[in-house]
Amino acid sequence: MAREFLERKGVEEARLDAELLVSHALGLDRLQLFLELERPITSSELDRARDLLVRRGRREPTAYVTGKREFYGRDFVVRTGVLIPRPETELIVDRGRELLAGAGREVAVADLGTGSGCLAVTLALELGDARVWGTDISADAVELARENAERLEAEVDFRVADGVSGLAAIVSERGGPLDLIVSNPPYIEPSEADSLAPEVREYEPEVALFAPAGDPDHWLRALLDAGRELLTPEGSLLVELGHMQAERARSLASDRGWDATVHEDLAGIERVFEAQRAAG
Ligand SMILES: C[S@@+](CC[C@H](N)C(=O)[O-])C[C@H]1O[C@@H](n2cnc3c(N)ncnc32)[C@H](O)[C@@H]1O
Repeated sequence: MAREFLERKGVEEARLDAELLVSHALGLDRLQLFLELERPITSSELDRARDLLVRRGRREPTAYVTGKREFYGRDFVVRTGVLIPRPETELIVDRGRELLAGAGREVAVADLGTGSGCLAVTLALELGDARVWGTDISADAVELARENAERLEAEVDFRVADGVSGLAAIVSERGGPLDLIVSNPPYIEPSEADSLAPEVREYEPEVALFAPAGDPDHWLRALLDAGRELLTPEGSLLVELGHMQAERARSLASDRGWDATVHEDLAGIERVFEAQRAAG
């Protein structure tokens, strides 16, 4: 019944979401839900499940309804006002680990536009010997990122700051450049808003989604321009790209004297831009 209800409302993965929401309402995980099929449901559990399904039927994202989303194998708290972490962003963590895991010294990493803190917290935990900062213009995001770091026992310095000037402040405060800057910046062109799923368009924050009108490359360009001053000579930039951005990203990088590679995600989409300063 729950599944049919969500299907009628146009929810894509209706069966999975119905299972997730019903198990959440009963305080079980999905496996326990099947193991306890015979257990009678109390009327308050039923009311709770109904409320969650109604919210999802209005196309509120499942992660906002349950208040959590898994990222790189860990549960992150999420809520309205802050972007829900996406699985394709995990590729930035994979590359960050490959670049820095064997450094043999403490490395310095900053995440611009940290949102829930998923990248900064995960890198802090995965890299171990690292000092990590996360910045965001949204105070709600920074508050949530701090909460996630505390819950997951990661040491990250989160701060409210605007754009690359926030990173420059970190570099001047610590008295030296960074080894890695990561970012999943807003890269959707505002004129494409109508093509987004209702879950994204109606529930996720505009500040997290949209690049300045007519300039989807704004953040990549800003990071390439500022990166020269902010990174060590061997330092790296890892930036998530939007649909069809890779070709422009490569040419922006070569025009500015960076060696760039673009990594594909599991769906074969060119997703993560990596750059180091070209030699000479
Ligand atoms: C696409 S979201 C990424 C969030 C998170 N890093 C993730 O991958 O789930 C972009 C983030 O950039 C932040 N942002 C937008 N404009 C900004 C600015 N001028 N300075 C700093 N952060 C900004 C948004 O608040 C949002 O949290």
